[in-house]
Amino acid sequence: MKRRVLVLCAVFGALCAPVEAAPVQARRSMVVSQSLLASEVGAKVLAEGGHAVDAAVATAMALAVTHPSAGNIGGGGFLLLRSADGQSHAYDFREKAPAAASATMFLDDDDEYDLRAHRFSHLAVGVPGTVAGLHLAWKEQGRLPWRRLVEPAVALARDGFTVSEGLARSLRRQLPLFRLYAASYAQFSKNGAPYVAGDTLKQPDLARTLERIAERGPAGFYEGETAALIEKEMKEGGGVMTAADLRAYEAKKRTPLRGTYRGHEVIAMPPPSSGGPTLLLMLNVLEGYDLRAKGRGTPTTIHLMAETMRRAFADRARHLGDPDFNPAMPLSRLLSKDYAASLRRTIREDRASKSEPTSFEWPAESDETTHLSVVDEARHAVSLTYTLEDGYGSKIVVPGAGFLLNNEMGDFNAGPNLTNVEGRIGTAPNLAAPGKRMLSSMTPAILAKDGRLFMVIGSPGGRTIINTVLECIVNVVDFGLDIQAAIDAPRFHHQWLPDRIRHERAGFAPEVLAELKARGHVLKATSSQGVGEGIVSLAAENRLEGGSDRRAPDGGAVGR
Ligand code: DON
Repeated sequence: MKRRVLVLCAVFGALCAPVEAAPVQARRSMVVSQSLLASEVGAKVLAEGGHAVDAAVATAMALAVTHPSAGNIGGGGFLLLRSADGQSHAYDFREKAPAAASATMFLDDDDEYDLRAHRFSHLAVGVPGTVAGLHLAWKEQGRLPWRRLVEPAVALARDGFTVSEGLARSLRRQLPLFRLYAASYAQFSKNGAPYVAGDTLKQPDLARTLERIAERGPAGFYEGETAALIEKEMKEGGGVMTAADLRAYEAKKRTPLRGTYRGHEVIAMPPPSSGGPTLLLMLNVLEGYDLRAKGRGTPTTIHLMAETMRRAFADRARHLGDPDFNPAMPLSRLLSKDYAASLRRTIREDRASKSEPTSFEWPAESDETTHLSVVDEARHAVSLTYTLEDGYGSKIVVPGAGFLLNNEMGDFNAGPNLTNVEGRIGTAPNLAAPGKRMLSSMTPAILAKDGRLFMVIGSPGGRTIINTVLECIVNVVDFGLDIQAAIDAPRFHHQWLPDRIRHERAGFAPEVLAELKARGHVLKATSSQGVGEGIVSLAAENRLEGGSDRRAPDGGAVGR
């Protein structure tokens, strides 16, 4: 197996003048994820003749063990597949609200909004979708036995794996929160002492749960012992999710969105992802500008992209939610080239516009989701993003079952008409309701050119995900960067409200920032944005190039 491991850079601040890294090269197949150990699991599946979906399933299961902040079986996500024959498929395994959910469930007895209930309690846990979604995709596309795909994760949990610097740091930071839940504290500390790099982390309860999933498929999670353990924890912790909610969970197949960008076909996830529609809308607007001529990283290019982001995020807020509850979303209008042209006409090149209402802010989101990209020998491609919402989700490990529960209910709006200047949102399309999926920003994407696979990309990062994916695509398509350079390039983000460009501290020259200010933009520096994990397929050379984001520790591309 030919393999090169990317150099890791734990502190992104150090990437001020990033040392260039070449993409990982391979001829036959590749897996890129935020855990090199998990990428290796997926690469082995491909080497045995597995389909890209097989490798994605095995990688995702392994990430649930080796990358516990976001890899999961207790969360949810999206899997996008482009088959070698050009057909595409979208698997939606977003979490759902339990049957007892309501639009006012995050209000207290005095009808006051309760942030803790919304984001940091058993009420914040959505019905997990990951196991159902991975199994559905495997049932339709997989070649290798299900057990074969789950077993490496079982072994990693049972026998343990070596804790990296990055994981040790991350676990140490969470320890005060794990302390609130005995099972979490037991699983992620050594009797209260933090794990250090070089230790072996074993997760025996998780191994047994994974073994039940290996044996029984989704029934090993949504029924029987695992379901009973979840329900028990919910009852004891004041949650409302029941065994009936678990039994009723269904992953869904949806019709992928398709757009075009400068001669490339762009395949993206439909709602409940807001990422697909928003990405395609932004690409349509940007297609009307000659970005290459305007130059990468110039004030004009950043300005035009930020103005595009501002408009697309306003539409996101206005229109998007779970399609099963919002049948009238105007997707075809939002995604038309005419609509993009009409937005472009509102953009001035010399002046920032203003977001209205100016005092209105979105709540903060964490950076803990994870993305993996897979291309197999036949050039089937998978782009998979899944999440627990916050890092380590609700922080609640199900006692006896060894996995973390999500806090995805926090992605629903706070409550009816609760939009306010402090940043609460109360718009209707994304209020909680029984069985509803909360709106997501996850943006797995795949590009094709001349009928052949070209690029697979995705990222974590809450709402910044959509712009991270946009920038990676523009860096490759418009500016001709290789995938590693496209991922390494400094990033920025505008999301309509708050009305500002948030940019990575490193990589933006002072004169560029000064010119953006002169055009009327408010700027805010941030340490780092997103974690891109991507693959480019150079069809003419029959070669794959993989890029893994050096902003995060432990990731890696594995090809052969
Ligand atoms: O689905 C969403 O949009 C969020 N729950 C994703 C959260 C996230 O990306 C956090 N970190 N990366």
